[in-house]
Amino acid sequence: MSQSTIESILQEERLFSPSTEFSQTAHIKSLEDYQRLYQQAKADPEKFWAELAEQELHWFQKWDTVLDWQPPFGKWFVNGKLNISYNCLDRHLTTWRKNKAAIIWEGEPGDSRTITYAQLHREVCQFANVLKQLGVKKGDRVGVYMPMVPEAAIAMLACARIGAPHSVIFGGFSAEALRDRLIDAEAKVVITADGGWRKDAIVPLKPQIDKALANGAVPSVQNVVVVKRTAQDIHMEPGRDNWWHDLQQQASPDCPAEPMDSEDMLFILYTSGSTGKPKGVVHTTGGYNLYSHITTKWIFDLQDTDVYWCTADVGWITGHSYIVYGPLSNGATTLMYEGAPRKSNPGCFWDVVEKYGVTIFYTAPTAIRAFIKMGDHLPKARNLSSLRLLGSVGEPINPEAWMWYHKVIGGERCPIVDTWWQTETGGVMITPLPGATQTKPGSATFPFPGIIADVVNLDGDTVGENEGGYLVVRHPWPGMLRTVYGNPERFRTTYWEHIPPKDGKYLYFAGDGARKDNDGYFWIMGRVDDVLNISGHRLGTMEVESALVSHPAVAEAAVVGKPDEIKGEEIVAFIILEGNCQPSEELSKELKKHVTQEIGAIARPSEIRFSDALPKTRSGKIMRRILRSLAAGEEVSGDTSTLEDKSVLDKLRGEG
Ligand code: WT7
Repeated sequence: MSQSTIESILQEERLFSPSTEFSQTAHIKSLEDYQRLYQQAKADPEKFWAELAEQELHWFQKWDTVLDWQPPFGKWFVNGKLNISYNCLDRHLTTWRKNKAAIIWEGEPGDSRTITYAQLHREVCQFANVLKQLGVKKGDRVGVYMPMVPEAAIAMLACARIGAPHSVIFGGFSAEALRDRLIDAEAKVVITADGGWRKDAIVPLKPQIDKALANGAVPSVQNVVVVKRTAQDIHMEPGRDNWWHDLQQQASPDCPAEPMDSEDMLFILYTSGSTGKPKGVVHTTGGYNLYSHITTKWIFDLQDTDVYWCTADVGWITGHSYIVYGPLSNGATTLMYEGAPRKSNPGCFWDVVEKYGVTIFYTAPTAIRAFIKMGDHLPKARNLSSLRLLGSVGEPINPEAWMWYHKVIGGERCPIVDTWWQTETGGVMITPLPGATQTKPGSATFPFPGIIADVVNLDGDTVGENEGGYLVVRHPWPGMLRTVYGNPERFRTTYWEHIPPKDGKYLYFAGDGARKDNDGYFWIMGRVDDVLNISGHRLGTMEVESALVSHPAVAEAAVVGKPDEIKGEEIVAFIILEGNCQPSEELSKELKKHVTQEIGAIARPSEIRFSDALPKTRSGKIMRRILRSLAAGEEVSGDTSTLEDKSVLDKLRGEG
């Protein structure tokens, strides 16, 4: 975050209250309601979660223990049996929702589909049978590498229905990144499409699958199922690849939901950390179902008439919890949009809001800042009066962007929920409740009931008011990750031992810096580890560095974030070349392309700086703080006494 943003946040005193009209019909109607729930949950968390689990979900068999906590390993609703696809589909069919729109889908070229709960149920059952025919059994992992089409949600729900954990891999990841994830998850089947539409062009997906699977690189994969979306020519490998529509047509629509154990794995989702390869975050059935359900209901204040639109991609946790599982479990209408604002129609988002009468709109600060730049005339030319609630997620929202969102999109009548959470948390953790909370632009406000969040120092002690510290959670919650797939040690050390446990008390370490103000509002300050946030997407500096050094010309690489007006951060890479390689514009381009190939376009450095040394401590650790200042064009301030070779600084500044 830039200095000016931090200053404006420190001075932020504006308070925005929900209208009486909004509060009256809201699930949580007042601050007192919120505080009562919060206190109840704090006093007896197990009772609080058990009552909700009972009220809000369908169980084939009730649990016998609410929480089994063997820190840092937790089990929720032990021995309970349920199926999240049943909770998202079957249970609505016996109500008036049977013919309600479950998914409204709008494709970028302007095609659209509306799928009712009954139709979605049928499609999911058929595809679940397709998976069974392909030999997928309970516990087998299924890769999903899809554009934003309804089949992505159908595939996820079909996996859940038969108990096969899915691992959705964002369609913007390269073949290399895709291969790594499929290998780690040992996927048996991969669901994909020929391509998808984005910014007036086709993103080819199937060729990436072919490249990832070439030469038996992922031996676990036996079959690929391909949705026809863009209809360009693609290769179909005989004996391995099948068209979705061929298999789906022949499949029976009869497939009862498998009773899953509450702690059976529901999905793996890969996310970046500060060290090593991306981690497979594991979520399980019961706790995740409850947590994604109740956070969607209360935070987005879902009512039966809402048309709810979350603009994320299903390849990220936001898509899992707040496009697919949370809204469908609540019987809501969830809108899926395939494309992105683009040259041919920069106002496409507002067209979608107007066309479908969207009432709840959830997007990221990076998108909001891009909208601001595109100009007020775009939203102002559309009728946005259907909107009643706005949401933000992915990074801290700067107060200027918040105010614009409030005025220009929300017409000063819509509450804004700034939701802080992570892939690991399964659902939103710190957020306003829109009918109850007075908001301050830039603050995620208060913890969700049942979440005991705090700001602490490295000893785990609470820091003072307005003092910066580390954001932690002090008590387990149903949506928490259960482990890192295949690596419980990494789970333990990354999240639970970063702040050493005291007297058997474990703190969940989020990796974010935060402070609490005089009124108890949380202000999230961004990552405190070597994780970048590029347009709300998480990337480890080490991942990008490994990609760079895998290029033969690169001897050493150090990657830092540089503040960017739209993306929040952009990537600057400092490169030391191998012996006889010379810096050039060509090589710079080639290295950017190389990173795109190794990881994906989101990891592409916006700047490459060649250097003959990097600032290091005497123990050899790269001093990123210095590189960050250099990248941002700021004076290198603070202590440089640990820097081994001081002349490096002058060289990097170009003065040496
Ligand atoms: C990181 C998690 C789960 C949401 C999508 C990203 C940052 C997320 C906020 C917010 C400030 C935020 C944090 C967090 N973040 N939401 N409202 N205010 N920061 O999920 O890829 O797991 O990234 O995103 O730094 O640790 P993710």
